[in-house]
Amino acid sequence: MAPFRALVGVAALLPLLLQCSVAVTEVSCSDIVPMKWRREVISITDFGAVGDGRTLNTWPFKKAIYRIQHLRSRGGTLLYIPPGVWLTGSFSLTSHMTLYLARGAVIKATQDTWNWPLVDPLPSYGRGRELPGRRYVSFIQGDGISDVIITGENGTIDGQGDVWWNMWRQRSLHFTRPNLLEFKNSRDVIISNVVFQNSPFWNIHPVYCSNVVIKYVTVLAPYDSPNTDGIDPDSSSNVCIEDAHIATGDDLVAIKSGWDEYGIAYGRPSSGITIRRLQGSSPFSGIAIGSETSGGVENVLVENINLYNTGFGIHIKTNAGRGGYIRNVTVVNVSMNKVRKGIRIAGDVGDHPDEYFNRYAMPTVDGVTIKNVWGVDIQQPGSIEGIRSSPFTRICLSNVKLWGALMHYEQPWKCMDVSGAALGVQPWPCSQLTGTFSAGFCSSAF
Ligand SMILES: *[C@@H]1O[C@H](CO)[C@@H](O)[C@H](O)[C@H]1NC(C)=O
Ligand SMILES: *[C@@H]1O[C@H](CO)[C@@H](O)[C@H](O)[C@H]1NC(C)=O
Ligand SMILES: *[C@@H]1O[C@H](CO)[C@@H](O)[C@H](O)[C@H]1NC(C)=O
Repeated sequence: MAPFRALVGVAALLPLLLQCSVAVTEVSCSDIVPMKWRREVISITDFGAVGDGRTLNTWPFKKAIYRIQHLRSRGGTLLYIPPGVWLTGSFSLTSHMTLYLARGAVIKATQDTWNWPLVDPLPSYGRGRELPGRRYVSFIQGDGISDVIITGENGTIDGQGDVWWNMWRQRSLHFTRPNLLEFKNSRDVIISNVVFQNSPFWNIHPVYCSNVVIKYVTVLAPYDSPNTDGIDPDSSSNVCIEDAHIATGDDLVAIKSGWDEYGIAYGRPSSGITIRRLQGSSPFSGIAIGSETSGGVENVLVENINLYNTGFGIHIKTNAGRGGYIRNVTVVNVSMNKVRKGIRIAGDVGDHPDEYFNRYAMPTVDGVTIKNVWGVDIQQPGSIEGIRSSPFTRICLSNVKLWGALMHYEQPWKCMDVSGAALGVQPWPCSQLTGTFSAGFCSSAF
């Protein structure tokens, strides 16, 4: 009984220790893209929109945004969405605008999937992500624009995804489902104080973007909804996500950079990605990198994360044929409750776009530090399984405690084709990480 009680004692103290050990400085994304106010304000009702939840408002949204684009006001224009339910088809944003959702405003996607427009696949994917060929355009999208803000008083953008999820379940889809919000080739974007719900596919997808701030957002989709990733920064730089609550049917955040030979040829990495103060729950991953990382992923900082009812807490995933790299990743201060596997770094995850991928294109995974992780009710602490011809290097686990359901350690770690170091890891980490001669890079990692 004594060791059990000792563990409970430490477990009860740990959150306190973590909180008290460092003076908490409130860091934030604001220096990447500062918030700004617009001189001109127009309302969607000026363009004949009706917020009764039945009238289709696609044309008013298009007219309003055309107006912002062509009668350009100095300092940009705010498009006000009053309380009400504003049903619409997909629409595109323009530069120098703020889409402002009042409290009680809901922008709702039409379920008319027959008339949903198609667009070309992303060059770094070579095809739609779930089906070959073109893909449905995202519900709200921005292409090649800058200085764009989506904000307000926590109004909702609702994808009404159930018709799409059912088509997926019945295998009756012909093209890849639409994202709820996608920015492509865009920069200086802020998304804050908005609720995203029931996306047909991924929720928020910045791709080929730079300087993107996402804060105080809530992203919700049912636990069993297919592929409803929360936020997927993809081939983008300087993306900062903070103070988010995400509970969906797939990865909460997944950093990506293209798919196999298409991603390698396009060669656009994701770099400078910060994720902090995020909490949530998912049947798949809490924080993921991959599996599509063919353009490379580097300089990632993840801190102060709280996960519950989740499949994999921290999940770094790639595959032979992906090429690319994952390097300089730091994950610090993560608490987990009821998680199937705490930490997984794996080199055999994910499918291929077609048969033309180069099976000798090996990814590299180097310099991943995971520090101050504390979990209870964890079925399996973790596994780190590299690729034989491209072992994972400089993997550092420091102060990682992952207890099972009864506050004891249920399963051992599992490792292969990896080198690095482990300090203060319980249960006892695998020998590949403890046998390393110099652990200097790990102890001095923070
Ligand atoms: C919106 O929600 C966030 C939590 O995501 C909260 O911090 C913020 O105060 C809310 N804002 C308003 C205007 O209600
Ligand atoms: C590693 O990434 C961090 C961001 O997490 C960045 O500040 C640092 O400069 C990077 N280090 C190198 C050597 O690039
Ligand atoms: C660790 O993260 C939690 C949120 O999950 C936060 O409350 C706490 O202050 C963080 N601790 C440190 C030392 O930053």
